[in-house]
Amino acid sequence: MLLFLLLLLGSPSSSAAGPGVTARTLSPCYSADLRPASSSLVSAVGCTVLLTVPPLNTSQVVFWEYQSGPWEGVILSYTLDGATNTSRPYENRTRFNETDSSLQLVLQKGDDGLYRFSSGLETTDWFQLRVLEPLPEPEIVGNVSVKAGGSTKLVCSVLGGKVDSYWWKKNGELLLGSDHIQFVDHGTLCILKASMNDSGYYTCVVRNEVSQNEASFLLHVLNSPNVVLPVILACVVVGSLAGVFVWCRRRGRQRL
Ligand SMILES: *[C@@H]1O[C@H](CO)[C@@H](O)[C@H](O)[C@H]1NC(C)=O
Ligand SMILES: *[C@@H]1O[C@H](CO)[C@@H](O)[C@H](O)[C@H]1NC(C)=O
Ligand SMILES: *[C@@H]1O[C@H](CO)[C@@H](O)[C@H](O)[C@H]1NC(C)=O
Ligand SMILES: *[C@@H]1O[C@H](CO)[C@@H](O)[C@H](O)[C@H]1NC(C)=O
Ligand SMILES: *[C@@H]1O[C@H](CO)[C@@H](O)[C@H](O)[C@H]1NC(C)=O
Repeated sequence: MLLFLLLLLGSPSSSAAGPGVTARTLSPCYSADLRPASSSLVSAVGCTVLLTVPPLNTSQVVFWEYQSGPWEGVILSYTLDGATNTSRPYENRTRFNETDSSLQLVLQKGDDGLYRFSSGLETTDWFQLRVLEPLPEPEIVGNVSVKAGGSTKLVCSVLGGKVDSYWWKKNGELLLGSDHIQFVDHGTLCILKASMNDSGYYTCVVRNEVSQNEASFLLHVLNSPNVVLPVILACVVVGSLAGVFVWCRRRGRQRL
C-alpha cells in the first residue's frame, strides 16, 4: 500500500490532462504577437509575459515551475500566509499576483521552456514558451561606388538573433529580382552591369517572428570616372595657375 502511494506520488506526469495555463506578451514588445495563447507562445527577450491559470483548489502552498531539457525547478512558491519565495534566477523580474495566482515574467535568453502552476492539490499542463531574440539593426557591407557597366554586391548581415526572412528596397520601394538584380544566399544583393539608374538608397529589411529591423546604404554608380576626375584636376590646376599669374602681375605693378 505504501509502495503504491509512493509510486503514485513519484509519477505526477501520469496524471490525466490538467487545467491549462494561458499566456500573453504584454505591450510594448517589438512586433511580437500580443494575443493570448493557450498551449504555447512565442515571445522575445526583454519583453514581459503574463501567465494565468483558471481558479483552482489551493492548499497551504502553491508554486510555479519551469522545465527546460534536464533542468527543472521552482520559479517561486507562495504560502497562504503571504510569503513569496522566489528562486535566485527569477529574482527582480517576476511578479506573482496573490489574488489570481498569475505570474509576470520579464524574459531573458534562457527562459525558453515549459511552465506550469501547481496549487498543491491540482497541477496545470505544461505551457510551452519560446523566447526569441529581437533582431538588431543589420549591417550592410559593400562598395559605396561602382563604375557604370561593372558589378557590385551588398551583403546584409545581422549580429545576434535568427533571421526568418530578408528583403531589399531601393529608394523605399520593394526591389524585385531580374537579370540584372539578383538575390543570392541570405541577405546578399548582386547588381550586374550597373547603370546610372542603379544609384540610390538600398535598404535591407530583416524579420523574425518577434521583430523587424532595417538599414540603408547609399550606392553611387559613376558614369565615366576616367574622364571626370582628370577634368576636375585640370580645372583646379588651370584655376590656380591663373590666380598665381594675376597675383604676380599685381605685385609687379606695385613695385613699379
Ligand atoms: C526558499 O526556497 C529555497 C529553495 O526552494 C529554500 O532553500 C529556502 O529555504 C526558502 N526560503 C524561505 C524563506 O522559505
Ligand atoms: C535583486 O535586487 C536586489 C536589491 O536590489 C539585489 O541585492 C539582488 O542581487 C538582485 N538579484 C538578482 C538576481 O539580480
Ligand atoms: C491581480 O489579479 C486581480 C484579479 O485578476 C487584479 O484585479 C489585480 O489588479 C491584480 N494585481 C496586480 C498587482 O496585477
Ligand atoms: C570594392 O572594390 C574594390 C576594387 O574595385 C575591391 O577590391 C573590393 O573587394 C570591393 N569591396 C567590396 C566589399 O566589395
Ligand atoms: C533609366 O531610367 C530612365 C527613367 O527613369 C529610363 O527611361 C531608362 O530606360 C532607364 N535605363 C536603364 C538602362 O534602365
